[in-house]
Amino acid sequence: MYEKIFEKYSPKKDNLIYILHDIQDQHPQHYISEDAVSEVSEYLRIPFSHIYGVLTFYTMYSTKPRGKNVIRLCESPPCFLKGSENVLRKLKKTLDVKINQTTKDGLFTLELCACLGVCGNAPVMMINDDVYGNLNDEKIDKIINKIRGEK
Ligand code: FES
Repeated sequence: MYEKIFEKYSPKKDNLIYILHDIQDQHPQHYISEDAVSEVSEYLRIPFSHIYGVLTFYTMYSTKPRGKNVIRLCESPPCFLKGSENVLRKLKKTLDVKINQTTKDGLFTLELCACLGVCGNAPVMMINDDVYGNLNDEKIDKIINKIRGEK
């Protein structure tokens, strides 16, 4: 099932995180299933438990199905000082979810993360691969409504 991804990387242990990343990106629910872990384990000849350890160590990976759009709100100090708590409150209210929950329509999952490296634009969030900065209530409404309109 993941031949295309495996073709890109030689079966070396060092390629583990890249392979996991591609598998997660390719899945419409942005997660890595047990079946995927088994296939990677076979391909790289790494124990299942080792791969599982890597998956649970890095917050960017998920072992549970998530929404079509994964929102990762930065909670590091520079964003916190610029109001990430207000952004979190707004996102929870707008999406009617708590942290790490997925909306009923399966469109969004709300997560927290550490610094995204664009602190100059704090407060910042990522939705899938797109970064959004200088967030306020109006901007959040626009972003969420635009994505809802695209579904
Ligand atoms: S602290 Fe939020 S992007 Fe760096």
